[in-house]
Amino acid sequence: MPLSENHFANIGRLELANLPTPIQYQERLSQQLGVELHVKRDDLSGVVLSGNKIRKLEYLLFDAQQQGADTVLTCGGVQSNHARATVYAARQLGMQAEVFLRGLDNQPSSGNLFFMRLANATTYPLSPDAYVERDKHMQKRAEELQAQGHAPYIIPEGGSNALGSLGYVRSMLEIVQGANDLDFIITAVGSGGTLAGLLAGAQITHTRAQIIGVPVCDDGHIFAQRVNLILQDLRTHIPELTIQSHESNFCDGHVGLGYALATKQELQQISTVVKDCGLVLDPVYTNKAFCGMLAMIQNGRIPQQSKVLFLHTGGIFGLAPFAENFSLAD
Ligand SMILES: Cc1ncc(COP(=O)(O)O)c(C=O)c1O
Repeated sequence: MPLSENHFANIGRLELANLPTPIQYQERLSQQLGVELHVKRDDLSGVVLSGNKIRKLEYLLFDAQQQGADTVLTCGGVQSNHARATVYAARQLGMQAEVFLRGLDNQPSSGNLFFMRLANATTYPLSPDAYVERDKHMQKRAEELQAQGHAPYIIPEGGSNALGSLGYVRSMLEIVQGANDLDFIITAVGSGGTLAGLLAGAQITHTRAQIIGVPVCDDGHIFAQRVNLILQDLRTHIPELTIQSHESNFCDGHVGLGYALATKQELQQISTVVKDCGLVLDPVYTNKAFCGMLAMIQNGRIPQQSKVLFLHTGGIFGLAPFAENFSLAD
């Protein structure tokens, strides 16, 4: 039987996001860049429950409910979009949320951290060294909760396991319905689940577009392996999957100063894009992916006249800690 969307239509999911998100043609940017640029607005999938993570949570939290969970545990950086979205989805479903945050100290309540505190999420600080063992810390806390009679459910970093990445398999169906004959699809890569889902979705929908992820930490060599592990696990849900991720699915060189750090030029770039077309990119993920896309257009990896879809994965609250870098006088 040929691979089709029926292969995963029966896997349970909640409806948490406003879907389908729009695909918008960017006329002025297209003229400037010499390509036909479309933006898939996953930043519009909601407000506090928004961005790419919410698509993963639709599957993960369905599973949590099926298992009778009353508390969701997850992890991420201090400004984790995933942790924030998980907290709000859990609240919406009447669950408790506990989040392990790398580098949480006495940071002021801004951006994602503000929203996590607003929702009264239980937060646990982990030093960068301790964060390496995040899965163990979450497991230990889950055992404590179980001993107290609770039913915990652990979501890995970024919601990036096979179940979560189904959200982006499904997103690929929206993409092919909304934009025909794409040559390239560009996304940020932080933990790999979004890219894994898009690659699997590309096989299911017979999409010929090249899918290129721009790592915001680590590099394409490391991510190709991580994405392949997710794709391998995805076969539990879609046994016919054969697609694999290769280093050619990545565009390296845009991590800049490091994860969640931004140079002055990168911040200026965010301002420029707002001025040019009103899109708000975030400094941690989408702006780095956008810079990767611009570089690929400049160096010819994306040829002129190509039809390109940029996946806007959200992250707007990650701008808040950088607010002082944007002066009114500029
Ligand atoms: C706004 C935003 N864009 C992109 C990503 C990367 O997605 P993934 O973790 O699935 O690679 C993340 C999370 O890591 C995110 O929060």
